[in-house]
Amino acid sequence: MTPPDGDTPPTDRASADPTGPEATHHRIAVEVADPLAAELAADRLWQLGTLGIEERPGLLVAVFDDESTARAAAAEFGAPTPEPLDAIAAVDAARWRARPVRVGPVLIRPPWVDPSSLPVGAADDADPTPALELVIDPGRAFGSGSHPSTRLAVALLHPVVGPGRRVLDIGSGTGVLSVLAGLCGSTVTACDIDPPAVETTRDNVRRNQLTGRVAVTDRSVADLTGPYDVIVANVTIDIHERLAAEIDRLAAPAGVVVASGILEGRQLDRLLAAHPGRVLVEHRREGEWAGVVLGPPTAAPTLERVAGRT
Ligand SMILES: C[S@@+](CC[C@H](N)C(=O)[O-])C[C@H]1O[C@@H](n2cnc3c(N)ncnc32)[C@H](O)[C@@H]1O
Repeated sequence: MTPPDGDTPPTDRASADPTGPEATHHRIAVEVADPLAAELAADRLWQLGTLGIEERPGLLVAVFDDESTARAAAAEFGAPTPEPLDAIAAVDAARWRARPVRVGPVLIRPPWVDPSSLPVGAADDADPTPALELVIDPGRAFGSGSHPSTRLAVALLHPVVGPGRRVLDIGSGTGVLSVLAGLCGSTVTACDIDPPAVETTRDNVRRNQLTGRVAVTDRSVADLTGPYDVIVANVTIDIHERLAAEIDRLAAPAGVVVASGILEGRQLDRLLAAHPGRVLVEHRREGEWAGVVLGPPTAAPTLERVAGRT
């Protein structure tokens, strides 16, 4: 995703710098004979301080944030010499930095983070038990939950999805929003024009056992046919403006649009102007970032609209 109006790009992977602090990260590969051995080895790796473990057939790949700990762990398991992460694509280093994220009742966690080790309730003391767990491997796509635009989209999307609702996720990235909608019982079409994002969305849809409910496509929005009850788009304002007419075409008569990836102020004004027939029904912000729900003209307006926001 490109920087909106020159601001910090809302992209997880753009922040990966193989010469930065994560260059000290190392990974080790531990062979495991069977599932029991894998479980015991994983327990020990967590005790030794691994940041995360990826399970592969017959292998656990564990990442450490300093070389000496990685070496000690490798020696204990008789594993080969740790491999520095700067030898790996920078995006993979960013991937390992993904952390569990709470958005109200929703928990987004990378698959290699042990769920039992999560600081339950740390993100939301009023609601200590997450109602919904999304297991999201960021792969090479945007949408780990680390960026405010994703969190705003999650917070605004969650109340408007549910059984029987048809949802279109434009710019699915990791598929985090599609997985959320699918787990809530909606039927979902996830689309993205970036091949790694399409692949990552597919992986995460499978990972969350939603293959029958979430269809993933690389077709352009112009080639899709609706109608959809909910259309969510976390894309830059320039992209949103280009897609706005298609979004309105694809929406059911009572359909809502959840938009994120925009900045407060002028970009929000541009977004509202791009959907002249719609009413602002919800507006949230996190720092400089804004997220909105736009309803059909018949929707009840918010106080903000009454106060002249639009
Ligand atoms: C900011 S990411 C959003 C990812 C995820 N939905 C989230 O909320 O975190 C925007 C995504 O939109 C995709 N994208 C950009 N232009 C697009 C277009 N015209 N049609 C579909 N996807 C597009 C990008 O490839 C990227 O994966």
